[in-house]
Amino acid sequence: MSKTLRFGIVGLGAIAQIHLKSFAACRNVELVAGCDIDASRLDRLPANAKRFTDYSEMIRRGGIEAVLIAVPHYDHVPMSIEAMKAGIHVLCEKPIAVSISAAHQVNEVAAAHRQVKFGIMFQRRLNPVFAKMRQLVRDGELGAISRVSWVSTDWFRTTHYYKSGGWRATWNGEGGGLLINQCPHDLDLLQWITGMMPSRITAVGFIGKTHPIEVEDEVSAILEYPNGAIGHFHATTGETPGTNRLEIVGERGRLVMDAYQLHFSRTTKNASQLRDATELFPAIETWEIDLLAGQALDDRQGLMQNFIDHVIEDVPLVAPGIEGVHGLEIGNAMALAALTRQPMDLPLDAQTYDRFLIKMRQNSTSNAMASA
Ligand SMILES: NC(=O)c1ccc[n+]([C@@H]2O[C@H](COP(=O)([O-])OP(=O)(O)OC[C@H]3O[C@@H](n4cnc5c(N)ncnc54)[C@H](O)[C@@H]3O)[C@@H](O)[C@H]2O)c1
Repeated sequence: MSKTLRFGIVGLGAIAQIHLKSFAACRNVELVAGCDIDASRLDRLPANAKRFTDYSEMIRRGGIEAVLIAVPHYDHVPMSIEAMKAGIHVLCEKPIAVSISAAHQVNEVAAAHRQVKFGIMFQRRLNPVFAKMRQLVRDGELGAISRVSWVSTDWFRTTHYYKSGGWRATWNGEGGGLLINQCPHDLDLLQWITGMMPSRITAVGFIGKTHPIEVEDEVSAILEYPNGAIGHFHATTGETPGTNRLEIVGERGRLVMDAYQLHFSRTTKNASQLRDATELFPAIETWEIDLLAGQALDDRQGLMQNFIDHVIEDVPLVAPGIEGVHGLEIGNAMALAALTRQPMDLPLDAQTYDRFLIKMRQNSTSNAMASA
């Protein structure tokens, strides 16, 4: 079946410039409408697309079957819900929401409108290096996981970047800092690759450590998992040159992604067998396998094409919107633990996070819109 999906986009800012190119390159799609409260940005749309400065108007009169939501974070949930209720498919930028309570709301509406497809722009799930890590873990090549450590500091940002939008780096406009803006990809991949959610997070975090901002720009966390595994996560927007190194250790060895190079040190025996050895210091034989030399590929076009194919041909969705809540829960718990210096148990109590967010927003310097 050949069909052209009529898409609209809301938010024609920085990331939309990439999405506009993807719309032009993808198959079976036409960008027929766009919306931005800043009317001057509507010129970025293709000549024949309908133009709106009001989102509800676009939903009602845009003639669209699907919408890509690329506005600041607090509007992700109300805009997703409005589209779903109008029977319009939703591809939402990350994060799916600012808080897990809001994510639960949108997931409930999605569950009540099953004919509507719901995706999230987690394009890093398409990176071959992360996909391979997931496959190896899921195929049991590593055995039971005992440690996951991620140093994710290649998020260097200038103060000029933070000042480039009134909503950025504010509790009221963005809903947090590093953990809600830069790290949602990492935190999604962390649980997507391992298939594990932590049961407790302990963390330290710093507000405005390396930039004059009111939100966190450095966080270091320890994650405890129900099977006894330990996780470490360290991220900052202030360090350069940055590191991006993810180690996953299991019964059968260690998988290391370092700057998108993937290496597997596979032990020929299980760690438990080695621990039971009768020698004092048994020789440990490993197979050293260079698996993939990848790159920091952000395949947004591929993610968009997958969503289109999902709507039209029902191919499996790489990044279902309802899964956005998992990484968000880790991020919310990490922010709470880091900034209150209290360990947080998961599943996280949504109201505890809501109270924390309300408190942080009371002193926010931003008066940027925040509709939820
Ligand atoms: N997937 C990724 O890797 C990735 C990368 C960058 C940004 N993002 C996400 O994309 C979203 C947008 O980020 P950005 O950097 O493009 O921001 P931006 O500030 O550059 O652009 C946002 C645009 O939305 C418009 N807007 C705001 N409120 C609106 C409303 N109510 N109705 C219509 N238009 C509205 C603004 O005028 C602006 O043009 C954020 O959620 C961000 O986290 C994702």
